[in-house]
Amino acid sequence: MNALDNFLFGLYPYICLTVFLLGSLIRFDRDQYTWKSDSSQLLKAGQLRWGSNLFHVGILFLFFGHFAGLLTPHFVYEPFIAASSKQLMAMISGGLFGLLGFIGVSLLLMRRLFEPRIRINSRTSDILLLVLLWLQFALGLATVPVSAHHLDGGMMMKLGDWAQHIVTFRAGAPELLGEVGWLFKLHMFLGMSIFLVFPFTRLVHVWSGFATVGYLMRPYQVVRARRLNVPAGQNQPRHPGAGV
Ligand code: HEM
Repeated sequence: MNALDNFLFGLYPYICLTVFLLGSLIRFDRDQYTWKSDSSQLLKAGQLRWGSNLFHVGILFLFFGHFAGLLTPHFVYEPFIAASSKQLMAMISGGLFGLLGFIGVSLLLMRRLFEPRIRINSRTSDILLLVLLWLQFALGLATVPVSAHHLDGGMMMKLGDWAQHIVTFRAGAPELLGEVGWLFKLHMFLGMSIFLVFPFTRLVHVWSGFATVGYLMRPYQVVRARRLNVPAGQNQPRHPGAGV
């Protein structure tokens, strides 16, 4: 394990997570007017419908898939599914939704680069973010055929073990990646980098997207009808203009 691996897979995850959490908190606290998805639908709808929908369906599935897949301890799913079957499931579903997301992000990127109205209204960070996401999808998809060469689930378990060591602050995480290939490592590096840039981009809307689930649990809205049948004089404003 060389110093670069130690840094990238031992220290860098914590740098990214700290910037992600603290950065989001500070941006929410100091800069709420910039906390938005910055939709460009009003400038030009066109490709946005397909691009954005395909991208969001793909990325949301992959987000939850990675979260559950990497962070569920082996002993929890072991009684129900073998590691090799879990890997196959991840490859097929990840490949399918990865492809949908990749088509989506490609449409979004093309639109942002080649649609003059969108281009002129884009910040450099809007373009770089889409390039980063495009690369991440491409790398993720490229790992699928590589995984097909070792279907025993061993590599997937190592990656899951690494992620679980990181989030539980256990030592020795980088050593677990000894035999992991550079393609996987590059995919992991870019994945962590998305968390790093998150608070500085429109990605902050993801917090709000997830928070909308709270809507399902919000209290009922109390709507009161104007009171009728009130004896004359009792419902008058105390001074002119009040109660208008
Ligand atoms: C949690 C649920 C989410 C909701 C409700 C949501 C909603 C939205 C909305 C309303 C827009 C603006 C309309 C548009 O341009 O498509 C948008 C744009 C965008 N979202 Fe999300 N989003 C969610 C999750 C995510 C996730 C997980 C990512 C990536 C990690 C993401 C990345 C983006 C990007 C890059 C754009 C800009 C697309 C463009 O170039 O126009 N979103 N999102």
